[in-house]
Amino acid sequence: MSQPSVASNNGFSRRRFMAGTVSAAAAPLLASTAQAEAPVIPQTKLRQPVVTSLRINEQPYELSLDTRTSLLDALRDHAGLTGTKKGCDHGQCGACTVLVDGKRVLSCLSFAVMNEGKDITTVEGLASSDGKLHPMQQAFIDHDAFQCGYCTPGQILSAIGCVNEGHAESENDIREYMSGNICRCAAYPNIVAAILQARDETKGA
Ligand code: FES
Ligand code: FES
Repeated sequence: MSQPSVASNNGFSRRRFMAGTVSAAAAPLLASTAQAEAPVIPQTKLRQPVVTSLRINEQPYELSLDTRTSLLDALRDHAGLTGTKKGCDHGQCGACTVLVDGKRVLSCLSFAVMNEGKDITTVEGLASSDGKLHPMQQAFIDHDAFQCGYCTPGQILSAIGCVNEGHAESENDIREYMSGNICRCAAYPNIVAAILQARDETKGA
């Protein structure tokens, strides 16, 4: 008497099924083997410092930086310009605001190497060479627009950007366009008053 056939109704044999299962199971192994053979760049090489040329407050700086260094850390830890403050380091508080080519930038969210060839202004670069404060700095003093002062450099740089953008036409505008700069001491009414004064002085209104 002949043996019963092992072929299923659709003609797919048990032997073929097992062969397919085994090859599918082996696929990730083969893939990981292929990956393992790809050239591996040592971590240490990726972290080699590169010379980064920055122009800060009209002065040239040549800094040796890990390419992942934020502009904020480059300013504070490498250029020695600690006026720019680190609050959240996540783009949420505005304490690190600087001007890049005249525009407001959160320096904690920008890699230093992205800013080569651009003009960076920090709070240290606002006063004129004879020591006269920028009108926005003077207005913050005149209106007592700070308490602890930690947010103040970022507030001042952001306020200058806000006026330059034409977003300081009203108190509501100022509150809206300065809303990215948090003040834990809640000096907001004084900050708005300071910006209005500096706006009028710098625009001759
Ligand atoms: S430190 Fe950059 S936004 Fe807070
Ligand atoms: S003055 Fe203290 S956080 Fe603004």
